[in-house]
Amino acid sequence: MSANMEKSVGSATLPELQEMAETRKLYLQRVTWVHHWTNGLFSFQIERPSGFRFRSGEFVMIGLKDGDRPLLRAYSIVSPNWEEHLEFFSVKVPEGPLTSRLQHLKVGDYLFLSRKPTGTLVIDALKPGQRLFMVGTGTGLAPFLSVLRDPETHDKFDEIIITHTVREEQELAYRDFLENEIHTDEIFGELLRDRFTYYPTVTRGNFKTRGRITDRIQDGDFANDLGLIGNRFNPQTARVMVCGSMAFNSDMSRMLTEHGLEEGSNSKPGSYVLERAFVG
Ligand code: A2P
Repeated sequence: MSANMEKSVGSATLPELQEMAETRKLYLQRVTWVHHWTNGLFSFQIERPSGFRFRSGEFVMIGLKDGDRPLLRAYSIVSPNWEEHLEFFSVKVPEGPLTSRLQHLKVGDYLFLSRKPTGTLVIDALKPGQRLFMVGTGTGLAPFLSVLRDPETHDKFDEIIITHTVREEQELAYRDFLENEIHTDEIFGELLRDRFTYYPTVTRGNFKTRGRITDRIQDGDFANDLGLIGNRFNPQTARVMVCGSMAFNSDMSRMLTEHGLEEGSNSKPGSYVLERAFVG
Protein backbone atom coordinates (compact mmCIF):
# COMPACT_ATOMS: atom_id res chain seq x y z
CA MET A 1 0.00 0.00 0.00
CA SER A 2 1.42 3.40 -0.92
CA ALA A 3 1.88 5.99 1.77
CA ASN A 4 -0.75 8.32 0.39
CA MET A 5 -3.36 5.54 0.57
CA GLU A 6 -2.77 5.18 4.26
CA LYS A 7 -5.45 7.65 5.20
CA SER A 8 -5.93 7.84 8.91
CA VAL A 9 -8.44 9.08 11.44
CA GLY A 10 -6.59 10.53 14.40
CA SER A 11 -3.34 8.66 14.73
CA ALA A 12 -4.44 5.29 13.32
CA THR A 13 -3.26 4.05 9.94
CA LEU A 14 -5.55 2.29 7.50
CA PRO A 15 -4.02 -1.17 8.11
CA GLU A 16 -4.52 -0.72 11.87
CA LEU A 17 -8.13 0.25 11.30
CA GLN A 18 -8.67 -2.66 8.95
CA GLU A 19 -7.30 -5.09 11.49
CA MET A 20 -9.53 -3.72 14.24
CA ALA A 21 -12.59 -3.81 11.97
CA GLU A 22 -11.89 -7.43 11.10
CA THR A 23 -11.35 -8.52 14.71
CA ARG A 24 -14.48 -6.73 15.90
CA LYS A 25 -16.61 -7.78 12.93
CA LEU A 26 -17.23 -4.18 11.89
CA TYR A 27 -17.29 -2.61 8.46
CA LEU A 28 -14.67 0.05 7.77
CA GLN A 29 -16.15 2.64 5.42
CA ARG A 30 -14.76 5.66 3.65
CA VAL A 31 -16.19 9.13 4.32
CA THR A 32 -17.37 10.68 1.05
CA TRP A 33 -19.08 13.92 2.13
CA VAL A 34 -19.13 16.24 5.16
CA HIS A 35 -21.39 19.26 5.67
CA HIS A 36 -21.38 21.63 8.65
CA TRP A 37 -24.75 23.28 9.32
CA THR A 38 -23.74 25.29 12.39
CA ASN A 39 -21.01 25.23 15.05
CA GLY A 40 -23.00 22.52 16.78
CA LEU A 41 -24.44 20.40 13.95
CA PHE A 42 -23.04 18.54 10.97
CA SER A 43 -23.85 15.72 8.56
CA PHE A 44 -21.64 13.25 6.76
CA GLN A 45 -21.86 10.35 4.35
CA ILE A 46 -19.94 7.10 4.09
CA GLU A 47 -19.89 4.48 1.37
CA ARG A 48 -22.53 1.83 1.87
CA PRO A 49 -21.10 -1.69 2.10
CA SER A 50 -22.52 -4.04 -0.50
CA GLY A 51 -24.93 -6.35 1.28
CA PHE A 52 -25.71 -3.82 4.04
CA ARG A 53 -29.50 -3.77 4.35
CA PHE A 54 -31.68 -1.65 6.63
CA ARG A 55 -35.26 -0.52 7.01
CA SER A 56 -35.84 3.21 6.63
CA GLY A 57 -35.78 4.80 10.10
CA GLU A 58 -33.33 2.38 11.69
CA PHE A 59 -30.10 3.22 13.47
CA VAL A 60 -26.65 1.69 13.44
CA MET A 61 -23.46 2.02 15.48
CA ILE A 62 -20.65 4.08 14.00
CA GLY A 63 -17.35 5.25 15.38
CA LEU A 64 -13.62 5.58 15.49
CA LYS A 65 -10.61 3.78 16.94
CA ASP A 66 -9.99 4.77 20.53
CA GLY A 67 -6.77 3.24 21.80
CA ASP A 68 -7.06 -0.51 21.47
CA ARG A 69 -10.83 -0.60 20.88
CA PRO A 70 -13.51 0.97 18.73
CA LEU A 71 -15.56 3.82 20.23
CA LEU A 72 -19.07 3.45 18.81
CA ARG A 73 -22.31 5.39 19.18
CA ALA A 74 -25.80 4.89 17.79
CA TYR A 75 -26.74 7.01 14.80
CA SER A 76 -30.03 7.04 12.90
CA ILE A 77 -29.56 6.65 9.18
CA VAL A 78 -30.70 9.76 7.28
CA SER A 79 -30.56 8.08 3.85
CA PRO A 80 -33.47 6.13 2.44
CA ASN A 81 -32.83 2.40 2.19
CA TRP A 82 -32.39 2.47 -1.58
CA GLU A 83 -29.55 5.00 -1.64
CA GLU A 84 -25.95 4.01 -2.37
CA HIS A 85 -24.36 5.91 0.49
CA LEU A 86 -25.23 6.17 4.20
CA GLU A 87 -25.81 9.63 5.63
CA PHE A 88 -25.83 10.66 9.30
CA PHE A 89 -26.73 13.85 11.19
CA SER A 90 -24.80 14.65 14.35
CA VAL A 91 -24.33 17.15 17.12
CA LYS A 92 -20.84 18.33 17.98
CA VAL A 93 -20.28 18.04 21.70
CA PRO A 94 -16.93 19.68 22.64
CA GLU A 95 -16.35 17.22 25.49
CA GLY A 96 -18.20 14.30 23.84
CA PRO A 97 -15.87 11.29 23.55
CA LEU A 98 -16.90 10.56 19.96
CA THR A 99 -18.37 13.76 18.50
CA SER A 100 -15.49 15.94 19.71
CA ARG A 101 -13.35 13.89 17.28
CA LEU A 102 -15.99 13.10 14.68
CA GLN A 103 -16.62 16.78 13.99
CA HIS A 104 -13.15 16.97 12.39
CA LEU A 105 -13.98 14.25 9.84
CA LYS A 106 -12.74 14.84 6.33
CA VAL A 107 -13.54 13.21 3.02
CA GLY A 108 -11.25 10.19 2.69
CA ASP A 109 -11.23 9.35 6.43
CA TYR A 110 -12.57 5.98 7.55
CA LEU A 111 -15.28 5.09 10.07
CA PHE A 112 -16.37 1.86 11.71
CA LEU A 113 -19.92 0.76 11.01
CA SER A 114 -21.68 -2.06 12.85
CA ARG A 115 -23.24 -4.85 10.83
CA LYS A 116 -26.77 -4.91 12.25
CA PRO A 117 -29.05 -1.91 11.97
CA THR A 118 -32.07 -1.87 14.28
CA GLY A 119 -34.75 0.44 15.69
CA THR A 120 -38.43 1.09 16.26
CA LEU A 121 -38.98 4.17 14.07
CA VAL A 122 -40.02 1.97 11.18
CA ILE A 123 -43.36 1.82 9.43
CA ASP A 124 -43.56 -1.92 10.20
CA ALA A 125 -44.09 -0.99 13.86
CA LEU A 126 -47.17 1.10 12.96
CA LYS A 127 -50.63 -0.12 12.12
CA PRO A 128 -52.04 1.18 8.83
CA GLY A 129 -53.46 4.70 9.10
CA GLN A 130 -54.12 7.83 7.05
CA ARG A 131 -51.78 10.48 8.37
CA LEU A 132 -48.22 9.87 9.47
CA PHE A 133 -46.91 12.54 11.84
CA MET A 134 -43.16 12.49 12.42
CA VAL A 135 -42.41 14.73 15.38
CA GLY A 136 -38.80 15.46 16.24
CA THR A 137 -36.43 17.80 18.04
CA GLY A 138 -32.78 18.48 17.17
CA THR A 139 -31.05 15.53 15.49
CA GLY A 140 -34.26 13.55 16.06
CA LEU A 141 -35.12 14.67 12.53
CA ALA A 142 -32.62 12.16 11.08
CA PRO A 143 -34.71 8.97 10.84
CA PHE A 144 -37.67 10.89 9.39
CA LEU A 145 -35.59 11.94 6.39
CA SER A 146 -35.15 8.26 5.64
CA VAL A 147 -38.78 7.27 6.21
CA LEU A 148 -40.01 10.19 4.08
CA ARG A 149 -38.10 8.90 1.05
CA ASP A 150 -39.26 5.30 1.30
CA PRO A 151 -41.92 4.53 -1.33
CA GLU A 152 -43.53 2.08 1.15
CA THR A 153 -44.36 5.01 3.43
CA HIS A 154 -46.43 6.52 0.64
CA ASP A 155 -48.20 3.24 -0.05
CA LYS A 156 -49.19 3.01 3.58
CA PHE A 157 -50.16 6.64 4.33
CA ASP A 158 -52.13 9.31 2.45
CA GLU A 159 -50.47 12.25 4.14
CA ILE A 160 -47.11 12.87 5.81
CA ILE A 161 -46.26 15.63 8.25
CA ILE A 162 -42.75 16.22 9.58
CA THR A 163 -42.27 18.65 12.47
CA HIS A 164 -38.83 19.80 13.56
CA THR A 165 -38.31 21.84 16.71
CA VAL A 166 -34.99 23.52 17.43
CA ARG A 167 -33.78 26.36 19.61
CA GLU A 168 -32.56 28.73 16.88
CA GLU A 169 -33.62 29.08 13.25
CA GLN A 170 -30.15 28.22 11.90
CA GLU A 171 -30.45 24.79 13.55
CA LEU A 172 -33.20 23.87 11.09
CA ALA A 173 -30.89 21.55 9.20
CA TYR A 174 -32.31 20.06 5.99
CA ARG A 175 -34.82 22.91 5.82
CA ASP A 176 -34.04 23.72 2.20
CA PHE A 177 -34.30 20.05 1.31
CA LEU A 178 -37.68 19.69 3.01
CA GLU A 179 -39.09 23.00 1.82
CA ASN A 180 -37.79 23.01 -1.73
CA GLU A 181 -35.58 20.23 -3.04
CA ILE A 182 -37.86 17.31 -2.24
CA HIS A 183 -40.68 18.98 -4.18
CA THR A 184 -38.63 19.10 -7.35
CA ASP A 185 -37.23 15.59 -6.92
CA GLU A 186 -37.89 13.35 -9.92
CA ILE A 187 -39.62 10.61 -7.91
CA PHE A 188 -40.81 12.29 -4.75
CA GLY A 189 -41.92 15.62 -6.18
CA GLU A 190 -44.97 14.01 -7.74
CA LEU A 191 -45.55 11.50 -4.94
CA LEU A 192 -45.58 14.18 -2.25
CA ARG A 193 -47.63 16.79 -4.11
CA ASP A 194 -50.34 18.04 -1.70
CA ARG A 195 -49.51 15.15 0.65
CA PHE A 196 -46.49 16.41 2.57
CA THR A 197 -46.15 19.19 5.16
CA TYR A 198 -42.91 20.30 6.73
CA TYR A 199 -43.59 22.15 9.97
CA PRO A 200 -40.52 23.73 11.62
CA THR A 201 -40.77 25.47 14.99
CA VAL A 202 -38.16 27.53 16.83
CA THR A 203 -38.18 27.97 20.61
CA ARG A 204 -35.55 30.64 21.31
CA GLY A 205 -35.62 33.11 18.50
CA ASN A 206 -37.89 34.92 16.11
CA PHE A 207 -39.61 32.68 13.62
CA LYS A 208 -42.97 32.37 11.88
CA THR A 209 -43.90 29.33 14.04
CA ARG A 210 -42.53 29.82 17.53
CA GLY A 211 -42.56 27.51 20.53
CA ARG A 212 -42.30 23.88 21.45
CA ILE A 213 -44.26 21.55 19.21
CA THR A 214 -45.86 19.98 22.29
CA ASP A 215 -47.29 23.40 23.28
CA ARG A 216 -48.39 24.19 19.73
CA ILE A 217 -50.23 20.86 19.55
CA GLN A 218 -51.86 21.34 22.92
CA ASP A 219 -53.03 24.92 22.37
CA GLY A 220 -54.44 24.14 18.92
CA ASP A 221 -52.01 26.25 16.85
CA PHE A 222 -50.62 23.17 15.13
CA ALA A 223 -54.08 21.93 14.09
CA ASN A 224 -55.04 25.45 12.94
CA ASP A 225 -51.89 25.87 10.88
CA LEU A 226 -52.41 22.49 9.20
CA GLY A 227 -56.16 22.89 8.78
CA LEU A 228 -56.81 19.81 10.93
CA ILE A 229 -60.11 19.41 12.72
CA GLY A 230 -59.70 19.53 16.51
CA ASN A 231 -56.36 19.56 18.29
CA ARG A 232 -56.26 15.87 19.11
CA PHE A 233 -54.66 12.98 17.28
CA ASN A 234 -57.34 10.59 16.05
CA PRO A 235 -56.39 7.06 17.21
CA GLN A 236 -58.13 5.55 14.17
CA THR A 237 -56.30 7.52 11.53
CA ALA A 238 -53.22 9.19 13.02
CA ARG A 239 -49.90 7.38 13.30
CA VAL A 240 -46.99 9.11 15.00
CA MET A 241 -43.23 8.68 15.13
CA VAL A 242 -41.45 10.58 17.90
CA CYS A 243 -37.72 11.21 18.12
CA GLY A 244 -36.01 13.66 20.45
CA SER A 245 -34.64 14.08 23.95
CA MET A 246 -35.85 11.87 26.80
CA ALA A 247 -37.99 14.68 28.22
CA PHE A 248 -39.54 15.39 24.82
CA ASN A 249 -40.24 11.71 24.18
CA SER A 250 -41.91 11.24 27.54
CA ASP A 251 -44.03 14.41 27.14
CA MET A 252 -45.13 13.28 23.67
CA SER A 253 -45.79 9.76 24.88
CA ARG A 254 -47.98 11.06 27.71
CA MET A 255 -49.94 13.31 25.32
CA LEU A 256 -50.43 10.59 22.71
CA THR A 257 -51.59 8.11 25.36
CA GLU A 258 -54.11 10.71 26.55
CA HIS A 259 -55.33 10.98 22.97
CA GLY A 260 -55.93 7.22 22.95
CA LEU A 261 -52.89 6.13 20.91
CA GLU A 262 -50.92 3.03 21.85
CA GLU A 263 -47.19 2.58 21.55
CA GLY A 264 -46.12 0.05 18.93
CA SER A 265 -43.04 -2.09 18.46
CA ASN A 266 -41.59 -4.34 15.81
CA SER A 267 -43.35 -7.36 17.33
CA LYS A 268 -46.63 -5.55 18.06
CA PRO A 269 -47.46 -2.65 15.73
CA GLY A 270 -49.30 0.24 17.37
CA SER A 271 -50.35 3.80 16.64
CA TYR A 272 -47.15 5.53 17.73
CA VAL A 273 -43.48 4.68 18.13
CA LEU A 274 -40.64 6.51 19.78
CA GLU A 275 -36.90 6.49 19.96
CA ARG A 276 -34.37 8.71 21.66
CA ALA A 277 -32.37 11.01 19.40
CA PHE A 278 -28.88 9.77 19.97
CA VAL A 279 -26.14 12.01 21.25
CA GLY A 280 -22.67 10.84 20.26
P1 A2P B 1 -36.62 24.69 24.54
O1 A2P B 1 -35.75 25.70 23.88
O2 A2P B 1 -37.90 25.29 25.03
O3 A2P B 1 -35.91 23.89 25.60
P2 A2P B 1 -32.24 20.63 22.94
O4 A2P B 1 -31.32 21.47 22.09
O5 A2P B 1 -32.21 20.94 24.40
O6 A2P B 1 -32.11 19.14 22.66
O7 A2P B 1 -33.70 20.98 22.45
C1 A2P B 1 -34.08 20.93 21.12
C2 A2P B 1 -35.44 21.53 20.99
O8 A2P B 1 -36.38 20.68 21.66
C3 A2P B 1 -35.53 22.89 21.64
O9 A2P B 1 -36.24 23.74 20.78
C4 A2P B 1 -36.28 22.61 22.94
O10 A2P B 1 -37.09 23.67 23.38
C5 A2P B 1 -37.17 21.46 22.53
N1 A2P B 1 -37.57 20.64 23.69
C6 A2P B 1 -36.76 20.21 24.68
N2 A2P B 1 -37.47 19.49 25.58
C7 A2P B 1 -38.74 19.47 25.14
C8 A2P B 1 -39.95 18.89 25.64
N3 A2P B 1 -39.97 18.19 26.76
N4 A2P B 1 -41.07 19.09 24.92
C9 A2P B 1 -41.03 19.81 23.78
N5 A2P B 1 -39.94 20.37 23.26
C10 A2P B 1 -38.80 20.21 23.93
